[in-house]
Amino acid sequence: MLNGKKIVLGITGSIAAYKAAFLCRLLIKKGAEVQVVITPAGKEFITPVTLSTLTNKPVVSAFFAANDGTWHSHVDMGLWADVMLIAPATAATIGKMANGIADNMLITTYLSMKAPVFVAPAMDLDMYAHPSTQANLEKLKSYGNHIIEPASGFLASSLEGKGRMEEPEAIVAYLETFFEKNQQLSKKKILITAGPTYEKLDPVRYISNYSSGKMGFALAEVCAERGAEVFLLSGPVQLQAKHQGIKRIDVESAVEMYQAATRLFPSMDAGILCAAVADYRPASFAEKKIKRNGEALHLELLPNPDIAASLGKMKTQAQVLVGFALETDNEMQNAKNKLQKKNLDFIVLNSLQDAGAGFKGDTNKISILTAQGEKVDFPLKSKKAVAEDIIDFILSHNE
Ligand code: CTP
Repeated sequence: MLNGKKIVLGITGSIAAYKAAFLCRLLIKKGAEVQVVITPAGKEFITPVTLSTLTNKPVVSAFFAANDGTWHSHVDMGLWADVMLIAPATAATIGKMANGIADNMLITTYLSMKAPVFVAPAMDLDMYAHPSTQANLEKLKSYGNHIIEPASGFLASSLEGKGRMEEPEAIVAYLETFFEKNQQLSKKKILITAGPTYEKLDPVRYISNYSSGKMGFALAEVCAERGAEVFLLSGPVQLQAKHQGIKRIDVESAVEMYQAATRLFPSMDAGILCAAVADYRPASFAEKKIKRNGEALHLELLPNPDIAASLGKMKTQAQVLVGFALETDNEMQNAKNKLQKKNLDFIVLNSLQDAGAGFKGDTNKISILTAQGEKVDFPLKSKKAVAEDIIDFILSHNE
């Protein structure tokens, strides 16, 4: 998995820097090409000579070579790498990365990096637990960086706790899993619907629901990270799709979403229908703002097309169709009925009775039901982690 992979290895000023030599050796043994970028503090813990000997490449530390003024281009490294790994990453480096403080070669390289970035923190347990470190790590995660959680154990401070950099073997295994997963969906085209729909009443009003689109966007991100070409059909949301593998198509109403979905689906390998599509739309659209006249107002609503059911009818043997069910009561039966009625292969159930599940938040708690009658429950997790579970589950049931 790592053979031929180009890895920028960032090393910072932590006692765990001595382990970077083992890390280099393991990566090189696996056939990777390693370019070390080390901070000035990192050099206090491990010498560039050790690292350049192991990697067979000069170690980069400063912006210029002192002897001849050669410019070390962080931009070129950002384009060259298949992955950047920062191990060990100190609290200071994590803070600089989170806040764009580009005062050394490693941070400028990080800011120029086009490839996925992995961070293996190494610090004392109290530094690691500090709210500022945790907030910075959360920020890095929100930028799409991967955090390789430190292990618990004996620390250089003689204390015991969480903060010890993960062992080189485990870091290498993490990267291998990443590259393996990265290819799982290559050459696959996946349609994902996300967010709410707006059903216009008049020029200033619409009917909608509380959907934020976060679950659908997380699924799009995970599918793209695993190599899929994603067509993200999104209702109006306040979100941005970050991955380059995502083609975003914005729509407003259920009818627009239906038209785009039915047009795209025949050329897709799978559809994941996460959108909270409004079931009804106003029978008529008032060209001018509806005025208040003190009387009761009766709205006539027409049923919207059911996108999931339509795609379920179009579905071929080779295609996979996944739906969602957000229920408030009689959850399991409702989800089963939807799975059958819409001819889905899987349905992801979330119940509003579970704290932390549903529309607005950053977490979700799901169960997945299959057309064959299997049911698996998952614990409360971040929407990104839930998206990983959903894709892992579908892949394990489609081999
Ligand atoms: N769905 C859809 N088009 C619709 C309504 C729903 O594609 N017009 C999809 C949703 O994206 C979801 C699944 O169908 O994947 C179930 O959505 P849900 O709103 O729970 O189901 P409904 O059929 O609308 O049932 P109800 O609102 O009565 O619970």
